[in-house]
Amino acid sequence: MKTLNQFYTLSNGVKLPKIGFGTWQVANGDEAYQSVLLALKNGYRHIDTAEGYGNEESVAKAILDSKIPRSEIFVTSKLESHIKTYEGALAAFEKTMSLLKFDYLDLFLIHAPWPWSEMGKDCKEGNIQAWKAMEKLYKDGRIRAIGVSNFSPDDIENLLNHCEITPHVNQIGYFIGIDQKATIDYCEKKNIFIEAYSPLGIGYLLSNPDIIKVAEKYNVSPAQICIRYCLQKGTAPLPKSTHEKRIIENTQVDFEIKKVDMDFLDTIKGDPRRWD
Ligand code: A2P
Repeated sequence: MKTLNQFYTLSNGVKLPKIGFGTWQVANGDEAYQSVLLALKNGYRHIDTAEGYGNEESVAKAILDSKIPRSEIFVTSKLESHIKTYEGALAAFEKTMSLLKFDYLDLFLIHAPWPWSEMGKDCKEGNIQAWKAMEKLYKDGRIRAIGVSNFSPDDIENLLNHCEITPHVNQIGYFIGIDQKATIDYCEKKNIFIEAYSPLGIGYLLSNPDIIKVAEKYNVSPAQICIRYCLQKGTAPLPKSTHEKRIIENTQVDFEIKKVDMDFLDTIKGDPRRWD
């Protein structure tokens, strides 16, 4: 079976399609609508959006217009990073649902442990409040799975010490060059599934000579090596593209990178993202 049609199973039994389609920095309107429609046409069944991306409405319209049954598509959205109150989180979820116009959401994540404008700020109490709202929505059957994004082991430990439900997912920036070892080891121990955003390093990894070398060896593209790498690490990559050729290419990952080459890719170090 093609990887695109395979699933991971979360700790609560919910099935998550192995490859997701990312929509960060995809503008609301035609760009988001067309790219999600193209992704669905080409077999993706896992779409990742967020309140903070501002494109939920167009993403939802594409899902509706695709005529694919809602139950066959796994949809994730995320609570905006600055919302750190119980009531605020509940209200934000209702806003998301009014934009998406769905009866339920598959996965809802706290987008970050701090507001993006105040990265690193101590929001421990706020995260507890937001997480309690997520737990309520989950127990009420509004969401099939709940999780966090960009959370460190300390941030998660804070939730576990004060809340009932262990997050089902932690979505983190994960790609060749940044091993995220502490977070991945911790999440593995707690049975928290790792989703990998920016699996191509926002595109920067595609010109890396070492990755190109491995890609040539397997007769695939650098993007396919980056996505396959995340899969072989047991994570769910969420590649994003607005071009159909690339949207398709990013699903053609039914090959195996040999251990010797995975080990070589592990020696690549560094985070090429602009904000670092
Ligand atoms: P575009 O949307 O113009 O196709 P990431 O998923 O790590 O955030 O990376 C996304 C970036 O990589 C975007 O700039 C996207 O550009 C580019 N991209 C996505 N898939 C491919 C591909 N197969 N080949 C080349 N560039 C790609």
